[in-house]
Amino acid sequence: MLQFITPKTPFVMVIFGATGDLSKNKLLPAMFSLYKQNLLPDDFYIIGFARREFSDEAFRSLFTKLSKDDKWESFAAHLRYQQGNFEQVEGYDKLIQVLNGLDKKIGACITRLFYLATPPVHYEIILHFLLVTKLSEGCGQGSSKWTRLVIEKPFGKDLETARSLDAKLSTIFEEKQIFRVDHYLAKETVQNMIAFRFANGIFEPIWNKEFIDHVQITWAETKGVEGRGEFWEGVGLMRDVVQNHLMQLTAAVAMEQPKSFTKEDVRDARANAIKAIECITPNEVRNRVIRGQYIGYKNEPKVAENSLIETFIAFQFFVNTPRFKDVPFYVRAGKKMEKDTVEISLVFKQTCHILFKEYGCPEIGNVLTIRIQPNEGITLRVIAKKPGTKVALSPIEMNFSYKNEFGEIVVDAYEKLLLDILTGDQMLFNRSDELDSSWQFITNILEGWKDHSIPIFTYESGTWGPEQGMKLISKEGRNWL
Ligand code: BG6
Repeated sequence: MLQFITPKTPFVMVIFGATGDLSKNKLLPAMFSLYKQNLLPDDFYIIGFARREFSDEAFRSLFTKLSKDDKWESFAAHLRYQQGNFEQVEGYDKLIQVLNGLDKKIGACITRLFYLATPPVHYEIILHFLLVTKLSEGCGQGSSKWTRLVIEKPFGKDLETARSLDAKLSTIFEEKQIFRVDHYLAKETVQNMIAFRFANGIFEPIWNKEFIDHVQITWAETKGVEGRGEFWEGVGLMRDVVQNHLMQLTAAVAMEQPKSFTKEDVRDARANAIKAIECITPNEVRNRVIRGQYIGYKNEPKVAENSLIETFIAFQFFVNTPRFKDVPFYVRAGKKMEKDTVEISLVFKQTCHILFKEYGCPEIGNVLTIRIQPNEGITLRVIAKKPGTKVALSPIEMNFSYKNEFGEIVVDAYEKLLLDILTGDQMLFNRSDELDSSWQFITNILEGWKDHSIPIFTYESGTWGPEQGMKLISKEGRNWL
């Protein structure tokens, strides 16, 4: 059994790479928010572990945005810093002293959470030292009860490295101790998809190839790589968001109803959906996958002047299940796009009834759009009669907005994930078979791109990407919405 953390159970979270963007932008703000909501125990510690020399005080002062809050001082008292080089044992040895000191202070074994928030190149070496120093075993050594390992995406670089990382992880930790993060799974709007699809009897009968013409998934960000050129050069959009977030959005649309609302059944349903995604073979990549790069990307710091790294991608694929066989899924994703939006649309077959043919049916009929962010909500586009003396048809939108119904979304994805890590609930974390299937899909495309004669199209910032991305769908008689 894992040791569950309740608001009374002490814990210590060691964040490797604690001076990086993830800590600053997501982890610490989320922990602070949980703290302010009284969701953390009285005794907890957050230890930042990174290369740079910092005092505890200097580490705390990295979080300037948070420090304006009047609760910050009392929260910051829980933060400590341990300098250490990931490749050398000394830092880990010092960490052991600190952790033992905390156990002594409390008079019990404190649950230890090791959060790998570093660039992925450091994962293997950190895992190695967690093993050889026995940090992985926690204070009740030899027991899996006291430690948990949290690992961020991208989990590997391709299928082979993902499998080897997974093999390494499973020699050190038991599956119940491993939390593979994809924060999209914890977004309220993504979690809602199971409820929306299966708690409403009216959608399930039409959620299939008989009624759905195609599915569109758009993931667009206005920002670029924001000074993270070095990281981005080793990753690219495919590994950064497609391998994880977009595969999970696809699973949310394509999955079958889980047998029960339990961790393993939900993870089975997701894994089966991702497994059913048909791979685009390396030979097909030239014609079926469009890659792009925004103009100016090569001027970002630490980017190669002949870089072939993609910041945009569009492709079409199929999910080979009885429900979705032959229904095309179109995905487009990019940085420096016209607007920030993540949404999924199910475009239903246009079945203009014979009654209305002579009055001109709109070309597109019913569309169900799930807005993951921003303006979280769901819109159903239906056809209505325009008011007036004549019969004329017009599309209108029936709109559900989280903001109008529930006020703002109160729990941020990282808050939810951190709480689940503390309580040991793995439902919203990747299981290794999900990752294996998604890496199979992605690795085929990466293999195709080893042929450098495949073009990478440039595009202006603030657009929807290269025109070839438009053509990908228009050549099949459809359009991006
Ligand atoms: C991260 C990616 O996983 O997701 C970033 O590494 C991206 O490149 C971010 O900007 C987007 O997250 P969100 O929650 O703002 O959609």
